Amino acid sequence: MVMKETDEQVYAKDKRDYLPVFARYNIVLDHGDGVYVYDTQGKKYIDYLGGIAVNVLGHAYPALVKAVAEQAGKMIHCSNLYYTQVQADAAEKLVKLSGLGKVFFGNSGAEANEGAIKLARKYAHQMDPDKSEIITAWHSFHGRTLATLTATGQPKYHEGFGPMPAGFSYVDYGDYAALEKMVNEKTCAVMLETIQGEGGVYVPPADYLKKVRALCDKYHAVLILDEIQCGMGRTGKFFAYEQFGIKPDIVTLAKGLAGGVPIGAFLASDKVAAAFHAGDHGSTFGGNPLACAAANVVLDTIGSGSILANVNETGAYLKQRLEAFHEQYPQLIKEVRGMGLILGMQLTKPGRDIVNACLAEGAIINCTAGDVLRFVPPLIVTKTQVDELCAIMAKVLPQFA
Ligand SMILES: Cc1ncc(COP(=O)(O)O)c(C=O)c1O
Repeated sequence: MVMKETDEQVYAKDKRDYLPVFARYNIVLDHGDGVYVYDTQGKKYIDYLGGIAVNVLGHAYPALVKAVAEQAGKMIHCSNLYYTQVQADAAEKLVKLSGLGKVFFGNSGAEANEGAIKLARKYAHQMDPDKSEIITAWHSFHGRTLATLTATGQPKYHEGFGPMPAGFSYVDYGDYAALEKMVNEKTCAVMLETIQGEGGVYVPPADYLKKVRALCDKYHAVLILDEIQCGMGRTGKFFAYEQFGIKPDIVTLAKGLAGGVPIGAFLASDKVAAAFHAGDHGSTFGGNPLACAAANVVLDTIGSGSILANVNETGAYLKQRLEAFHEQYPQLIKEVRGMGLILGMQLTKPGRDIVNACLAEGAIINCTAGDVLRFVPPLIVTKTQVDELCAIMAKVLPQFA
């Protein structure tokens, strides 16, 4: 039996033994239920971070718990050298939902993007070995492995890790004219988040992605859309690219795909996917039975439509409530941005103290890019739970205005 320790003992152990790479908040979480989590003191928090856009079905969603428990009792893992029905089912569902041709499962967002970059390079290499340049956006976030970190257009994350992999360049997100100037015959891929998340919740101009799609077609460059944060129903459509009337050549997913069980995936059109052959890519754990059993529940539940309707309705309501704060406190809040249940509130000052004040009042929110409050709650959140968050914010915001 594990001895229950005090929070102070947990903090001390963590400080002693864990790499200090996370600027953690001072609570020890214990369990969750729906859109709520509870700390070891029994204090309840409404969770508007959802594990950073991971807990799409909330915490302890009964069908997900049941599927994971049943699969764990049957078989947690087997090698990808063998077939499993759970993996084939999850792949079939994703292919149907996306209209793309093939899927590969990994374990995280970074791995999904790493695989997408490899596939794009291999595909372009067949046309011209020098067609290797990958253009990504400033303020993007694509992961922490060396290639995905290089793809991440935020120099602060690169510092001290050089030399970085070659062949990446950056352009302002949403600026089509700037992109048009950069793309040429040597461009292997344009890689963008359909909506930028970590960089501060930026939605591109309405016609931007359509033009990017056409530009990529003109130069036979691969369009990679990273929907690790904004996909899985978060915008109100299963894939965020559906909001913009286009289809990428490759799309990447992770975070919410298995509702909290680690998984990542990239999907590619048959034409691009044909560049990979046996041995070109792989993963020991990727898409193992446990992760796929969880993904099947999430895909069935979100794919069925009622969750998407809730994202549209409750997302619009949350945005409206946040806009009202903007009107009330223009000196503190510059803008509210986003779509569905990926919303950002641009502040005029750093947001960490507001996050801490909300935490003290029982709400988990997040601050990204230093001064953007980010709201990425479970997709099952209700209007009443929006009111609950807003009551806390109404208490907290005046202290900072
Ligand atoms: C858009 C995007 N891409 C990639 C990643 C990396 O995912 P992971 O942390 O699972 O490697 C993230 C994580 O925040 C993300 O938001």
